[in-house]
Amino acid sequence: MIEKFEELIDGYLNNGAGISNFFIPRPLVAQLRAHLDNLYFDGHLSVAGIGDVNNRVVNDTIRRDKIFWINSATENDAEKKFIELVEAFILYLNRTCYTGINAYEFHYAVYEPGTFYKRHKDQFKTNSERKFSLVSYLNEDWEEVDGGHLMLYPEDDDIVSIAPTAGKTVFFKSDEMEHEVAVCTKPRFSITGWLKRI
Ligand code: OGA
Ligand code: MN
Repeated sequence: MIEKFEELIDGYLNNGAGISNFFIPRPLVAQLRAHLDNLYFDGHLSVAGIGDVNNRVVNDTIRRDKIFWINSATENDAEKKFIELVEAFILYLNRTCYTGINAYEFHYAVYEPGTFYKRHKDQFKTNSERKFSLVSYLNEDWEEVDGGHLMLYPEDDDIVSIAPTAGKTVFFKSDEMEHEVAVCTKPRFSITGWLKRI
């Protein structure tokens, strides 16, 4: 556990983004993905917006994913394990980096073929509670031709292109790192969330 937490934190401190290829154990990836497939096929996801709760608008020139918010008091076994992992990471981050994170929020996201999320930062202009972004992928057998890479644009460094492969997790500062989801050619599944100080 500590190793993958360190991997994310070291990567963030040294390069502006931490990447852990196996942050979510494979069996848990499969469990989460099965649950998300059910939610998706039962029509529970909704078109994502931009802006905070008071300024939310849908803009399909900026983003075209569909999302479903995870309830932190969930009774679902897979989601409980995911939340436990997140809480363990937050505890470790607060202890080692004095980040004072005291809240979080996560949603599933599905990008259908042809969809994307244009270059942006995750912290709202109207609300600075989001401190860190944590994105995890639920895609088995993802190939280069499937596209959908997460593109990172560090201020003084080269662009980083990250394939959204199963279990991989990316960690960066929400008000600093510009990033983009490149267009995908097959459905792309993920969990995106924010560690907050409120
Ligand atoms: C987001 C986002 C990145 C990804 O939802 O804000 O940038 O790789 N997601 O899904
Ligand atoms: Mn983002």
